[in-house]
Amino acid sequence: MKKIFLSLFIVMSVFMNVRADEGMWIPMLLQNNEKEMQEMGMNITVEDIYSINNSSMKDAVVLFGGGCTGEIVSDKGLLFTNHHCGFDWIQHHSTVEHDYLTDGFWAMSFEEELPCPGLTAVMLKKMEDVTDRVLAGVEKSTTTEERAEIVKNNIAKIIEETSATTDYELEIKSFYHGNKYYMIYNEVFKDVRMVGTPPSNIGKFGGDTDNWVWPRHTGDFSIFRIYVSPEGKAVEYNEDNVPYKPAYHFPISLKGVEEGDFTFVFGYPARTNEYLPSVAVNQEANVIYPVSVDLRGKILDIYNKYQEKDPKVRIQYASKHAHLGNGWKKWMGVIEGINNFKGVEKKHAFDKAFTKWANYSRSRGAYLELIKDFNRVYAEYEPYRLATTYLSETALQIEVLTFAANFNALAQVTKDTPQEQIDALVAEAREAAKVFFKDYYQPIDQEVAAMVLQEYINNQPADFRPELLNTIVEKYDNVQAYVDELFAKTMFASEENVNNLLDNFKASKAKKIAKDPALMAYKNVMDFYFTNVRPNVAKISNEISELQRIFMRGQMEFHAEQNPDKMMYPDANFSLRVTYGKVGGFSPRDAVHYKHYTTLDGIMQKENPEIYDYVVTDRLRELYETKDYGRYADKDGSMHVAFIAGNHTTGGNSGSPILNADGHLLGLNFDRTWEGTMSDLIYDPSICKNISVDVRYVLFIIDKYAGATCLIDEMTIVE
Ligand code: ARG
Ligand code: GLU
Repeated sequence: MKKIFLSLFIVMSVFMNVRADEGMWIPMLLQNNEKEMQEMGMNITVEDIYSINNSSMKDAVVLFGGGCTGEIVSDKGLLFTNHHCGFDWIQHHSTVEHDYLTDGFWAMSFEEELPCPGLTAVMLKKMEDVTDRVLAGVEKSTTTEERAEIVKNNIAKIIEETSATTDYELEIKSFYHGNKYYMIYNEVFKDVRMVGTPPSNIGKFGGDTDNWVWPRHTGDFSIFRIYVSPEGKAVEYNEDNVPYKPAYHFPISLKGVEEGDFTFVFGYPARTNEYLPSVAVNQEANVIYPVSVDLRGKILDIYNKYQEKDPKVRIQYASKHAHLGNGWKKWMGVIEGINNFKGVEKKHAFDKAFTKWANYSRSRGAYLELIKDFNRVYAEYEPYRLATTYLSETALQIEVLTFAANFNALAQVTKDTPQEQIDALVAEAREAAKVFFKDYYQPIDQEVAAMVLQEYINNQPADFRPELLNTIVEKYDNVQAYVDELFAKTMFASEENVNNLLDNFKASKAKKIAKDPALMAYKNVMDFYFTNVRPNVAKISNEISELQRIFMRGQMEFHAEQNPDKMMYPDANFSLRVTYGKVGGFSPRDAVHYKHYTTLDGIMQKENPEIYDYVVTDRLRELYETKDYGRYADKDGSMHVAFIAGNHTTGGNSGSPILNADGHLLGLNFDRTWEGTMSDLIYDPSICKNISVDVRYVLFIIDKYAGATCLIDEMTIVE
């Protein structure tokens, strides 16, 4: 009896009452949340946030660069996003003479703003429920394959028909794992220019060391502007284009935040998986992530060793390090969070309660065997997921292998290949070589290669290993002997050899390329993957999607019975969402409590001219020493830098506006606390917090640090 109560209690606390601060809500359906939001302190209506008839806040939020969020902060299309979201463009525009990464960049007039060809800002105009039309023709008896086909065809048809009636770009997205479909009308801005960025030691202060971690002191912002044709159309870059006049832009609050204040975040979360069965959560957190974390940790150790020795190598491997390190650190947080929170046990209790509920009524027959089916299918899936993980975290981390892949087309050239085509391939390979060798350090690659191949051999059974690895086991004394031979024989580890090849390329050289051991190794592992792994992954993941669709439908029914007033929120899918929660610190572990904000004092405490991530410029130190904060100081007199709140965010929410009870801009979301990264799988309000840079620090840097006061003058400031 006690046990039943206990598990029921756990289930209720995990699931039945979606807690106030959990959830990423579809703005169009926000009426359902209005009462709760207002009870939590919101002073505006949801119509102010999302309206299709009147201008509303949604007219000031964009998907930035296909992976982040940005918000419009002036009536001239000025846009804020994170520094790490603008990073590629800052790098793109940087040269030795104009090193904007190091020194920052501030356009003091429209003419100085820098075009960014290919960069887009996407604005949602409206959304429509098209579920019935997408599922037209799907019957009870329709098989999984038929269903997929019908859905695909219906989507194509709806988009084609609607395109004739609108200038907006259309997409139809699945929500609730294929139970709902919405058509989204987007305006895609194609002329977005770079306006400003702080130097990296502000925009990336703390670097990878502080990444995912609270307390945080990163001024993670950069500034862009949307341009349109003189007629107001979203067109490609043109000299005659003019700054975009938005229907809405966010007023900026200088009031700061207090513990307990209501906030909401408006942006584009990419992907969550909140409705998985326990077997899936267990596989993710206890099988797959530990492998990735372990392997990446070992690679990063090798990077670190060489990066510490040589400043040139430090720069060469900075971006690779950041990339590998971001996932590595996040997944460690997920594993620990799931274990501390007993996430798998809670999901398991829910699975049981769900099956029991399914048992009570005949109409729930479709759900009865679901958990059993999941257990079976995920068990089948596991070896293939591991195989995929090993491939991507080992063999594909050997840089010379993936670089060699760029030469595969040249290896196929024959004497009948038209010269133009050869020239084009050579030019492409030359470009790839330029990019590759700029940031390549062979001793790192060679050491990584020996380590990862040994790991692959040790941890994957022979029939799950590409032939190459079995050859190494049979024919070489050890992995090191193979790796030494590989690097001695391949031409792809040497810039000189590659240039020689390309300078004098003739069709007769194709054979030599084809026989290069690095290219052969690459092809061998990929062939294995495409023949032995990928087809099984595809087949099983289709089965899983189908089960998950039914499970999701069941969870929605189950939930609606207990909780008729509050809907369930759909998993993130890169569509516009609103999430809300209160400002507040938290206690990550026994005896430790984190305050909800950080200040410039903390930057000075972390300052270390010897460590790249913690360099502070003289200019910032001067402003700190003279306390020259102007109107951007908090009422306590200090300069606040970042703060945390209980908003349910994920990757893609970077750059999202975080707003106060009046809908005024408080800051830019840029990260989550490490302890709470499991929130993509299961949400615990006591530790899942989003991290934002305080907008007053942003304005202080623009105004006092950089003197770009002309930008401040464009904004609507609420003192
Ligand atoms: N953790 C943040 C995100 O997932 C920031 C990553 C960029 N910053 C960094 N130091 N690598 O995207
Ligand atoms: N830094 C993440 C991004 O680029 C946001 C952090 C998170 O995953 O919540 O979107």
